[in-house]
Amino acid sequence: MPFSRCSTASPPNIVSIAGIDPSGGAGMFADLKTFSALGAYGCGIVAALTAQNTQGTTNTHVPPTDFLRQQIDTLLDDVAIHAAKIGMLGSAAIAAAVAERLAHWQAANVVLDPVMIAKSGDILLNRAAVGIMREVLFPLALIVTPNLPEAGELLGERMANSVREMYSVARRLRDLLPHNSERWVLLKGGHLPGDELVDLLFNGDRMIELFSRRIDTQNTHGTGCTLSSAIAALLPKNAGQPNPVEAAVRDARAYLLHAIAAADSLDIGHGHGPVHHFHALWRNRSSTTT
Ligand SMILES: Nc1ncnc2c1ncn2[C@@H]1O[C@H](COP(=O)(O)OP(=O)(O)OP(=O)(O)O)[C@@H](O)[C@H]1O
Ligand SMILES: [Mg+2]
Repeated sequence: MPFSRCSTASPPNIVSIAGIDPSGGAGMFADLKTFSALGAYGCGIVAALTAQNTQGTTNTHVPPTDFLRQQIDTLLDDVAIHAAKIGMLGSAAIAAAVAERLAHWQAANVVLDPVMIAKSGDILLNRAAVGIMREVLFPLALIVTPNLPEAGELLGERMANSVREMYSVARRLRDLLPHNSERWVLLKGGHLPGDELVDLLFNGDRMIELFSRRIDTQNTHGTGCTLSSAIAALLPKNAGQPNPVEAAVRDARAYLLHAIAAADSLDIGHGHGPVHHFHALWRNRSSTTT
């Protein structure tokens, strides 16, 4: 069945189309935790598998393209989906197949996180696939959420190194999205130095600056995955509001900030550990287990 509107009676069904990070901090496992924490039902289409921990990625494995198509078609043949988050896609062929099948299923509320470079610096998508992503996946996205290095790759230029440059990057990224309908760019400024972080949210008309205090922790593995999944989970819930995308992004950032603030209470690996997706649910954990 094509993507559908969410009924008010049941939670929204969200699909993550992404890679697997066995450490659970990023990729689809992080996406499913985020959906669950925010009251959405999570489904997943595996677009890549990685051998990965909190310190880096040692290998990746890409499923056969036909099998990827079959995963999408089999799921959508049965389950009504209300939003999709697209993350790591293993290859240009996978990116093209995802775009083709999502167009077939009339995908709506698509959040495209153009994952290319991991926090560890590992390259997660090659140059050819970046071109495919721009040409065939951007047209399907309601919102794209690149970080600054990814924005540079998408535009074929060096990374922006000031908020002023970010304004121009956000404008030119918006030009890569269809002009005649509502589409948004969330340009994440986490890679700029400083105690304050700025993300820019732009729809071609309104440029919204979103500020936050930089939380001092090395446990930020999967912040981008978590943010894009939170937006996807919250989009259907905000559908009735005057500015549903802006509301979903603001609420998603607030959820992520709390998850980063609670990250040090987990003890996962020796590199960049994950954020705490269930910070609100596990707050009273010690009192429930004693
Ligand atoms: N230390 C921090 N404190 C507060 N907010 C942060 C911190 N690090 C990142 N963020 C926020 O997290 C969100 C994700 O940004 P980031 O730049 O980390 O994305 P990313 O590079 O795609 O992440 P990932 O490496 O997980 O893919 C942004 O809204 C950013 O402002
Ligand atoms: Mg990212």
